[in-house]
Amino acid sequence: MALRTPLTTLLGIEHPILSAPMAGVAGGALAGAVSQAGGLGLIGGGYIDPDWIEREWAAAGNARVGIGFITWRLEAAPAALDAALAHRPAAVMLSFGDPAPYLERIRAAGAVAICQVQSVADARRAAEAGAGVIVAQGADAGGHGAGRGTFALVPAVVDAVGPLPVVAAGGVGDGRGLAAALAMGAAGVLVGSRFYASREAQASPQAKDRAAAASGDHTIQSSVYDRVRGFAWPAPFRLRTLRNRFTERWHGSEAALDDAIEAVRADYARAVAAGDTEEAAVVIGEAADLIRDVAPAGELVRRMVDEAETALRAGSGCIA
Ligand SMILES: Cc1cc2nc3c(=O)[nH]c(=O)nc-3n(C[C@H](O)[C@H](O)[C@H](O)COP(=O)(O)O)c2cc1C
Repeated sequence: MALRTPLTTLLGIEHPILSAPMAGVAGGALAGAVSQAGGLGLIGGGYIDPDWIEREWAAAGNARVGIGFITWRLEAAPAALDAALAHRPAAVMLSFGDPAPYLERIRAAGAVAICQVQSVADARRAAEAGAGVIVAQGADAGGHGAGRGTFALVPAVVDAVGPLPVVAAGGVGDGRGLAAALAMGAAGVLVGSRFYASREAQASPQAKDRAAAASGDHTIQSSVYDRVRGFAWPAPFRLRTLRNRFTERWHGSEAALDDAIEAVRADYARAVAAGDTEEAAVVIGEAADLIRDVAPAGELVRRMVDEAETALRAGSGCIA
């Protein structure tokens, strides 16, 4: 069984699996490995460090990959889009902000414009502005998100913007999630947390091991890590991470955190350097239970496809 969908046709890929453009975590090695396994890997252009981005294009080698930007950061550094388009990406993904000013340039460069949204209203707006693909991101997701759960959001977005291809994001950690997304009318999935615990991801070894041992019962959406990192994220977006000593201490005490921010930042930098996962962020979402090892990204793509094919052939194990 081949999982061919309008997404695989549009992007010219074999499997309907995209790896998320995780800022500072999804470099060229991860994106390249996902693309080489038949999905599409997206470099995490995130907070826009031009030197890092250039290095990661090189690290992707000859693999055909794309890149993602945090839209409200792109507003302050619009030249980053031209620099990215010069690499002839397969796709450019925009999340967290108004994508409209950038879509024409992306299309004109021959790249597919992917817009990640968190509501039906924003999906409609992105479709009207000219998006080629809509990613419907549920709040189960690791990293930044807002609002609704994936399971109801995805079919609602499919109904709102079809026949435009819709991709499900948030909580997809194995092939069952991919099969479920396809059953809901999505044309594929965008996966972050599961690839965070891949060999190629640029998370610390300690954070990957912690992710592989974690449960989605123990995640939280909070602003505390954005405060300590000095990122002025607009409402309503909050970062989903594992709960740890840092979130227990500061979530709910944001004013005190802001008052102590200089000292906390110094301690935080030391914790990051030491790989201390009780203080540094482990940025994964509710799919944590589905992460059981740290594996090569290509193997994760193959597992997901095999499991989805099995799930789709078998139907629900509960139907007599
Ligand atoms: C470590 C991490 C970093 C992320 N950084 C970004 C980012 O820079 N830009 C973005 O559009 N999405 C980012 N995301 C969110 C993903 O695009 C995606 O919506 C999410 O990972 C899907 O849910 P999942 O984590 O359950 O797979 C990030 C996610 C993770 C886990």
